[in-house]
Amino acid sequence: MTEKKVRVGLIGVGGICGAVHYPGLDRIAEVEIAGLCDPNPELLAKRQQEWEIDHCYQDSAAFLRDVHPDAVVIATPNIEHKPLILQALAAGCHVISEKPLGMNFADTVEIYQAAKKAGVRHMTAFTYRFVPGMNYLRHLVHSGELGEIRHARFQRLQDWGEFPIGWRQYKDLAGSGELGDMGIHRIDYAENLLGQIAAVCGMTKQWVQRDHMPDGQPVRAQDVEDWVSWIAEFKNGATGVFEMGKLTKGYGPDGGHDLAEINGSKASAVYRLHTPHEVLFAKAGRNQPYEARPVPEEFLKRSGSPRDPHEGDPLQVFRFDQAWEFISAIREGRDCVPSFYEGMRAQAVADAILQAAAERRWVDVSDCPV
Ligand SMILES: NC(=O)c1ccc[n+]([C@@H]2O[C@H](COP(=O)([O-])OP(=O)(O)OC[C@H]3O[C@@H](n4cnc5c(N)ncnc54)[C@H](O)[C@@H]3O)[C@@H](O)[C@H]2O)c1
Repeated sequence: MTEKKVRVGLIGVGGICGAVHYPGLDRIAEVEIAGLCDPNPELLAKRQQEWEIDHCYQDSAAFLRDVHPDAVVIATPNIEHKPLILQALAAGCHVISEKPLGMNFADTVEIYQAAKKAGVRHMTAFTYRFVPGMNYLRHLVHSGELGEIRHARFQRLQDWGEFPIGWRQYKDLAGSGELGDMGIHRIDYAENLLGQIAAVCGMTKQWVQRDHMPDGQPVRAQDVEDWVSWIAEFKNGATGVFEMGKLTKGYGPDGGHDLAEINGSKASAVYRLHTPHEVLFAKAGRNQPYEARPVPEEFLKRSGSPRDPHEGDPLQVFRFDQAWEFISAIREGRDCVPSFYEGMRAQAVADAILQAAAERRWVDVSDCPV
């Protein structure tokens, strides 16, 4: 059967667009990259040549008006997400946006409600939901194989060094630091595994200034956290302990650590990003240590995804299933998973963590509109 053609525009063609969005879309039959938009003329020219795209714009309004794509990918610094999403929705486009969806919870409520009103497909790019080990862990939790879930822990530890890291180190461009960058993904997959978080108690810490380049050239100093931790109580009574850091020596540059460990009444299981095709599993009982379990074939990719799960770097290729989910939802006329709703939910939790840290107390997570 010939699939319906979908014309997609790419807005923001930097790091994540080149690594994840473009290659994911490029693999899907009857998806046309209709045009590119980025205010950086050198990067735009480079992408135009690499990807052989005719229509390239520096201004998003002109881009949407002239190219008129069916759908757009928004992969810009966080501050640009809301205005660009609202502009694309007004132009009638389906939208996938990078995370965090907005700069704060109020932003994400506005974005979610605008998308609902527009009646288009909307998706938040929570990429880690697509890791094979995460697909299987979700199955183990939801099928009841682990029993009643009691405790969970989530860690993202990396070493980005001590020098400037661009827009990510500024509150006015990123909203928050490590929480919005790495923490928001873990909030999302924790809720996907265990249901909604009811309340949190958290702490943030900024250690470095990142106020000069390696050659000594001064830059504006960082003003966001480079470490964050929180304890969460889920609505079902389970507890979660989370820690994320950008300065944890021993975990960089490619040795980043990403772990989700779930302890249930019947068994425990562990997802680790860096062994994406296996989980650790241990049954209840003394002398039942963790053993590696391969991820069964059916969980290695999303159903129907055009990629061969045994081809390419397993740490990268699962990310392409995100584009498959977006395009499939458009073609099937159903909600994307995860949608802007989940982007808003994660931001409600993130705002509660920041408030808890600032006020040094427990904070209930705000209710979200449906
Ligand atoms: N899902 C993931 O795993 C993941 C990983 C990395 C980054 N991200 C997210 O992706 C987004 C981009 O991150 P990145 O690392 O690619 O950043 P980047 O700086 O490499 O690229 C951002 C691009 O957006 C462009 N841009 C800025 N303003 C624009 C505008 N108004 N219109 C069009 N383009 C504009 C910039 O010129 C730049 O080329 C961020 O929100 C980040 O949090 C997500």
